[in-house]
Amino acid sequence: MPDPWQDAMDHAVALARKAGSMVRDAVQNEMTITCKSSSVDLVTKTDQKVEKLIIESVKEKFPKHSFIGEESVAAGETCVLTDDPTWIVDPVDGTTNFVHGYPFVAISIGFAVNRKMEFGVVYSCIEDKMYTARKGKGAFCNGQTLQVSDQKDISQSIIATEFGSNRDAEVVDKIFSSMRKILCLPIHGMRGVGTAATNMCLVASGCVEAYYEIGIHCWDIAAGAVIVTEAGGVLMDVEGGPLDLMSRRVIAANNRNIAERIVKEIDAFTPLRDDAPIEPK
Ligand code: IPD
Repeated sequence: MPDPWQDAMDHAVALARKAGSMVRDAVQNEMTITCKSSSVDLVTKTDQKVEKLIIESVKEKFPKHSFIGEESVAAGETCVLTDDPTWIVDPVDGTTNFVHGYPFVAISIGFAVNRKMEFGVVYSCIEDKMYTARKGKGAFCNGQTLQVSDQKDISQSIIATEFGSNRDAEVVDKIFSSMRKILCLPIHGMRGVGTAATNMCLVASGCVEAYYEIGIHCWDIAAGAVIVTEAGGVLMDVEGGPLDLMSRRVIAANNRNIAERIVKEIDAFTPLRDDAPIEPK
């Protein structure tokens, strides 16, 4: 039977490549930076331009599909996942890296139907690595099959995480407390490349055992989620339940042992959900 979403996936790959080339060009040139929720939550004209390119192209080719995009939500669009075929897009994942020329920036395009992820495309555009996964068909990087690490012992592992963009002292304390506990297990090392989507692809590639973060958004992790599971990994909430895409909390790991060990060490907190009703102004 032909794959009903192959056409959409091919289109996502083509769009990610085009967007990546726009991002690479913009890194060489001057960029306009503004702030969103705080002085460390950055957005550039390129984020907006790339998202516009993707939305317009998707709307033209798939007029019945829905769309959740980081910059559209920042501009006031709702962020609710329905049963519709839905594109979940972060036009520039790693905006802070992009602004500083730190060489990890990704275009992240996830696609869900009936609230279940069908495919994910993450283009780490400075490295020119195209990560793709279609549900039930495996995960790939530039055409090579991906497989998570088979390490079961967290003390032999590298764990990735990020500081995110919340600078409230209480939240930062919890982030550091979790990191301290995990680091002192001990583990081999802690990493984080500044883009959630790429961190998840590194789990899928087998070079880090797990990635966890509280404070990410659905567009940071939707595509990576399919890539991790198709590479043989698992997804979990930071308190051990199933991953809830809208909850802004994630553990992506090579296996349950590692994920559950991380759960034990995390000082969990609950950010405002992505699908929380918008407060009237
Ligand atoms: C951010 C990156 C970062 C993570 C933040 C995300 P953005 O996405 O993925 O690694 O720590 O939580 O919001 O803002 O660059 O698209």
